[in-house]
Amino acid sequence: MKILAIETSCDETAAAVMEKKDNDPFVLTCSAVVASQAKLHEKYGGVYPEVASREHIRQILPVIAEALELPLTERDRLPLFSLKDIDHLAVTVGPGLIGSLLVGTNTVAALGLASGKPIIAVNHLAGHIYANFIRHNYTYSAESQPKSVATQYAQVPPRFPLMSLIVSGGHTLLVYMKEHYSFEIIGQTRDDAAGEAFDKVAKLLGLGYPGGPLVSKLAATGDRFAYNFPIGFEHEETLDFSFSGLKTAVLRVVQKESQPLNKQAKANIAASFERAVIEALLLKTTHALNAHPVNDFLLGGGVAANAYLRERLSTLLAHRVPSINLHIPPISLCTDNAQVIGAAAAFSPLTPTPAEALNAVARPVLSTSPP
Ligand code: KG4
Ligand code: ZN
Repeated sequence: MKILAIETSCDETAAAVMEKKDNDPFVLTCSAVVASQAKLHEKYGGVYPEVASREHIRQILPVIAEALELPLTERDRLPLFSLKDIDHLAVTVGPGLIGSLLVGTNTVAALGLASGKPIIAVNHLAGHIYANFIRHNYTYSAESQPKSVATQYAQVPPRFPLMSLIVSGGHTLLVYMKEHYSFEIIGQTRDDAAGEAFDKVAKLLGLGYPGGPLVSKLAATGDRFAYNFPIGFEHEETLDFSFSGLKTAVLRVVQKESQPLNKQAKANIAASFERAVIEALLLKTTHALNAHPVNDFLLGGGVAANAYLRERLSTLLAHRVPSINLHIPPISLCTDNAQVIGAAAAFSPLTPTPAEALNAVARPVLSTSPP
């Protein structure tokens, strides 16, 4: 089965052709294109929703045409024959920015009506989980971990029950799954998402957008114990997260330090902040695993690209629960893309959504029963 998947929930316009074979537990990538708008939003220090929707409109057809490998001369239109090898269409219907989502759903509705191909509506968060069901040649190996430990996990299919930590710009969630498409949210942020905290701290330190990779690069040169930043719900039983107090604590430190901040002071703040975020994620992950024993653990979302998180989580699991296989996607499958949407669609048990109903299912907020 071949799926053409489209993702436009935030500031990446993406399309991919994915293939699921009956006897393969993984989904294969045939082609993948991502047009990032990061440069456009940089001057606002975050995603400017109106600018994002307009840019999606400009990019969507060329991006799909490229994913379908149309010759350059045909990229301003999508002839129907270009869909001849495609069995299903898939599109992100939420959560995300509504203006951005509607560009994807309208485009896919039009393609569905014109071609008669069935459409699978996909929840963006399911996509971040299903990043771990895409076949790739990547093997994560933590520096502190013997290579043999990591390599034995390479491309072994995830085993249920499993737990997934999704850390992105909009969400921070611990999800327990008994089987495919059974999503039980056992912990989530009550205020800011982890990626949002990275972006806000980057802004406070004058680093630019998106903040995660910039804070992380600077943190590598700083002292992680220079500041004792708060760890959200450190002494509470809850599996929920909170990052807004941490962000305020960083603001106070920035205001107290002599201005302008020198490079080392910024690096120390970045390093201590990053430690506090990662400690909070690891603390709640440890509690969650105690309460819900699982076979496998999956990481997903943009913050899953963070080197310090990858290293610390992999060391934690290798030492505390060595029976668990940890799945970490390659960085290109952590940040937003359409391959993960196609992968989630490939496992979706749901009946296709009629093209004319697609806009009605687009939703900006998190649904506990992802479509
Ligand atoms: O999943 P994603 O691409 O979009 C959403 O679904 O939100 O995640 C984007 C978020 C941004 O907040 C970005 O700063 C963060 O992921 N991010 C990182 C890193 N790379 C991206 N955060 C920390 N460290 C990174 N290396
Ligand atoms: Zn995302």
